Amino acid sequence: MRAIEGLLAFPKIFIVELIMASSSSPNCFSAIAGGWLKLLFWGVWLWTCGGRAASTVKPSEISKVEDAQNFHMYYGQTFKVVKNAMDGHSYLLIQNNSRMASRTKYCTSRIKSFVIPLSNYSVDTDLFPVSFFELLGLLSSMKGMTSESVASECVLKLYEGGEIDIINKSEPQQFSQFSAHFISQSDHPQACNFANFVPFSEETPLQRAEWIKFLGVFANVESRANQVYNAIKANYLCLNRVALNKTKSFKPIVAWMEFYDGVWSFTQEALKLKYVEDAGGENVDNSINKMTYNISNPDDLDQLHAILCTVDVVIDGTYTSEPVNYTQSTFLQNINVEDHSCFAFLANQSLWRFDKRIQNSILDWFDGAVSQPQLVLADLTEALFPTRNYTSTYFRNIARLLKSLSHRHLSKASLSSTSLVFNLRKQCKCPQKT
Ligand SMILES: *[C@@H]1O[C@H](CO)[C@@H](O)[C@H](O)[C@H]1NC(C)=O
Ligand SMILES: *[C@@H]1O[C@H](CO)[C@@H](O)[C@H](O)[C@H]1NC(C)=O
Ligand SMILES: *[C@@H]1O[C@H](CO)[C@@H](O)[C@H](O)[C@H]1NC(C)=O
Ligand SMILES: *[C@@H]1O[C@H](CO)[C@@H](O)[C@H](O)[C@H]1NC(C)=O
Ligand SMILES: *[C@@H]1O[C@H](CO)[C@@H](O)[C@H](O)[C@H]1NC(C)=O
Ligand SMILES: *[C@@H]1O[C@H](CO)[C@@H](O)[C@H](O)[C@H]1NC(C)=O
Ligand SMILES: *[C@@H]1O[C@H](CO)[C@@H](O)[C@H](O)[C@H]1NC(C)=O
Repeated sequence: MRAIEGLLAFPKIFIVELIMASSSSPNCFSAIAGGWLKLLFWGVWLWTCGGRAASTVKPSEISKVEDAQNFHMYYGQTFKVVKNAMDGHSYLLIQNNSRMASRTKYCTSRIKSFVIPLSNYSVDTDLFPVSFFELLGLLSSMKGMTSESVASECVLKLYEGGEIDIINKSEPQQFSQFSAHFISQSDHPQACNFANFVPFSEETPLQRAEWIKFLGVFANVESRANQVYNAIKANYLCLNRVALNKTKSFKPIVAWMEFYDGVWSFTQEALKLKYVEDAGGENVDNSINKMTYNISNPDDLDQLHAILCTVDVVIDGTYTSEPVNYTQSTFLQNINVEDHSCFAFLANQSLWRFDKRIQNSILDWFDGAVSQPQLVLADLTEALFPTRNYTSTYFRNIARLLKSLSHRHLSKASLSSTSLVFNLRKQCKCPQKT
């Protein structure tokens, strides 16, 4: 019998009101820092990132979708319907204490039913941001996953402690032992208990983060999902206002680019372009019309060289299986131009990658950064308007060789070194066995 006993329940200050209260203040940095202390006397909120799913159902607590485009929710007396606008599927979620729960079961191509709150679930961990479950306090009901390639320390600990089993994807019948199996790639064949969770289908950082509400409804933890999203959104918007206020006569020009198969491309991903704008920068994208440059082609190389002479900040999103080994010299090799003298972003040490937080070479960028976009925005703001007094969470400067990468021991400094951004994951502890 493997039960998680003695889950740590940490009384935690809850910060929503605080951020809300400070959001009208001209300088939310200091307002939040001051409010943090004030809040110590306000309310205390139970915060266990790995805790058991809440079991009390208060029908008055509902989630409303404000920003996300690709899911909708409807509430009945004893059931909820979540509609996934990407694939047109609806999930009928039936409260376990209702008569309907034992009588009704749907599994058609359009509608599936689940009895909630889920007693357990499994996750297809290929590109699945499990941090959403962490923020909801639902990790202890996670009983299966498809691989150990996850960036979440808490999930890895649970796996190592035997709480989570690895399920082989080639034996899909194994997933039927769980109340639900969450997947993020909807093109796969789907059994009756599969539910599609697709935050990556959204275009903006906040839209993606709001998918926490989608998972919340399966466990009746709407109020927590709402609180987390409200806190993240308020913090994001606050950071955004501060960043835009930093812009002086002109905005720093940012090239977010990737190298693949001999070709450099400037990103066209809406999400990344939006992050740059929200951090007070301007995308190089707005001023050029050619997006890809083949470094074996001399004309392309000249043009790329010229463009790079005009940018202030470069974000190199090139994929590599060994992020730790990707350095400034790797970047320069990939760029393939000999004369770097005009590269202001090098002189100014403004060359970044988003692989600072990793776990066995798995990037938390695709996990924790999806559920907490305010951390990304804070990092980017520092990249664009350096204070040198802020420890980034996701972004790693490969031009400034001060520190080596922290792999196993993830950075603990970011909360203390900055007073404006909140990392909700650091407010909580992994579930522990006793
Ligand atoms: C904007 O910046 C100015 C000076 O740099 C400061 O006085 C003002 O409070 C800032 N406003 C906000 C909203 O941060
Ligand atoms: C419904 O779920 C809750 C929380 O998991 C559980 O405590 C309760 O016993 C369940 N009720 C029924 C009728 O299954
Ligand atoms: C998951 O919950 C269901 C329903 O309560 C139960 O029948 C099943 O044994 C549980 N599975 C695991 C792996 O805990
Ligand atoms: C890049 O250019 C070289 C030389 O012209 C060519 O052989 C190669 O196929 C091109 N690469 C791509 C991805 O188009
Ligand atoms: C990465 O760096 C480590 C240590 O410097 C080295 O042992 C390893 O071979 C490198 N990997 C690759 C693929 O270059
Ligand atoms: C470096 O950045 C500073 C502001 O951070 C700016 O004033 C300066 O012009 C930049 N230098 C170059 C060479 O771009
Ligand atoms: C650096 O940050 C700390 C904490 O936010 C702050 O107290 C300190 O004044 C800052 N230092 C500078 C030089 O801005």
